[in-house]
Amino acid sequence: MDSRYSIIRRNTLKARALVIRATAAAGSGHPGGSFSMAEILGCLFYKHMTYDTNNPLWKDRDRLVLSKGHAAPGLFSHLAISGFIQESEVETLRSLGSRLQGHPDMKCPGVEFCGGSLGTGLSYSVGMALAARLDGLSSRIYTVVGDGESNEGQIWEATMTAAKFKLDNLTVILDRNYVQQDSYTEGVMPLDAATKSSDPVAARGDPTAWRTSDKWRAFGWHVIEVDGHRIEQIDSAITESKRISGKPTIIISRTVKGKGVQHMEDNPKWHGKAPSKSMVPIILDELKSQSLVAPSIIAGDMTRLDLEVKRCDEAGSDYIHMDVMDGAFVPVVTFDHEKLKELRPLTDIPFDSHLMISEPVKHVKRYAEAGSDIITVHAEACNVSEFGEIHDYLRSVGVGVGIAINPKTSLPVWLKEFVPTLDQVIVMSVVPGYSGQSYIPESHKKTRDVIQSLNKMGFNGVVEADGGVNVSNVADCFDDGARVFVGGSSMVGQPDMRRAIDDIKNSISYARRRMLLHRAHILGGSDMVNNWIALHEVGEQHNVLHQIAQECGVL
Ligand code: DX5
Ligand code: ZN
Repeated sequence: MDSRYSIIRRNTLKARALVIRATAAAGSGHPGGSFSMAEILGCLFYKHMTYDTNNPLWKDRDRLVLSKGHAAPGLFSHLAISGFIQESEVETLRSLGSRLQGHPDMKCPGVEFCGGSLGTGLSYSVGMALAARLDGLSSRIYTVVGDGESNEGQIWEATMTAAKFKLDNLTVILDRNYVQQDSYTEGVMPLDAATKSSDPVAARGDPTAWRTSDKWRAFGWHVIEVDGHRIEQIDSAITESKRISGKPTIIISRTVKGKGVQHMEDNPKWHGKAPSKSMVPIILDELKSQSLVAPSIIAGDMTRLDLEVKRCDEAGSDYIHMDVMDGAFVPVVTFDHEKLKELRPLTDIPFDSHLMISEPVKHVKRYAEAGSDIITVHAEACNVSEFGEIHDYLRSVGVGVGIAINPKTSLPVWLKEFVPTLDQVIVMSVVPGYSGQSYIPESHKKTRDVIQSLNKMGFNGVVEADGGVNVSNVADCFDDGARVFVGGSSMVGQPDMRRAIDDIKNSISYARRRMLLHRAHILGGSDMVNNWIALHEVGEQHNVLHQIAQECGVL
């Protein structure tokens, strides 16, 4: 338990927005490398590190060393959200007298190392880990190193030293984003084997080319490989690293430089370049519109839910939607917390548990303890007092809090007090009870109205479209404002689930690009649309956007 997935995800999205605000205000800075490590720092700050923002020098605190110091905006954004500094302070980045300069220094509370001269942070961390051990401190040292940074010989001296002294209170995370200063790592000083295609980041997608871990293993480290944008994988890896004794751990975190803002992704130009102020509103909309797919396993073989979970894992799901039905709230029985507990060890992917049960207040603890990352209960099955109990309990154990409403149900008036701390609202687009039903068309307008009301009440979570969502209506559901898309028959019910999910993700991506082009047009007409499209230089993005712009009449 103690998932904290929803907290980590929400705060990481917010941190990216702060990086944009900070670098745009400063007119300089490093967004690319701040974005590639955003989830890594999210897992550290909002789950794994122990610290006291009122006592930043508390001797037993865990320490974060940002060895790739140029990604300072990424560090400052998380220091702000954690409460070390005010969020507004990030917009003083690089200004005279600010505590937040181009590279971190100890003027700023929470900064443990004056990074910037690459290669030195790991040596410094080795010293800290040795000192913590000598002083008998329980502190853990977490160090984020860049892949380009590991061109520096000192990194390898420190790597050898950490192994020699068996520094198992040291966890290093390598931000493996394949881009350094002004080019791609594999062209400057490769860490992986050469790949067949000329694409400079092809190694990220080709595990047979991965050699970075061999190097660290050869130096005597415990090595874990993760997808550096999958919170659940980073989370599990950090947990694992704490259990290792007798050797330091490195988590090789395969990431995308500029992740979250399409025109910055894998583009060396955004290593050290600030977005222009005019583009900030569109970029912030882009960050807010990150979407997730949540296949529902009850559309599969109910006698082999273990295989269905594995299929979801292999198909690139973001969540696994667990439709719990008790035969009382809905006429059907699917499975209960015992089954969920049995399925939990099969994957790290977050369980998005949708409890279609009566009296959820009596059962929610079992579903949290069984391994749910988010639990959504039905407004029709509880009153304000029961929902208050559910809400407070789930937040206390780090499980996301959701509420669902049936097609004929409006948002309960009593929900208002909980909205600012709600993680998810499911707007049902079928009458609950079965997968394979058709999307109720009135749900589009209902979703838009619900989101409008929620936003007025300070909603920071996501709306999930659930019921009859498929590749032909998902773009409309995106336009309504939903950001998590459940698919039973349209995903799990398909023989090739990965293909089905990819098709749905492509549909969502089309709708997202269209939304941003319309936003550019509203802000500045066709000139702004052309300027927005011109930013997209990598691969085919430019042509794709140009075509969408013409199709939707903004060019
Ligand atoms: C219905 C469930 C939905 C359903 C989704 O009661 O809450 O999650 O299983 O399946 P499809 O996408 O096929 O409607
Ligand atoms: Zn559901």
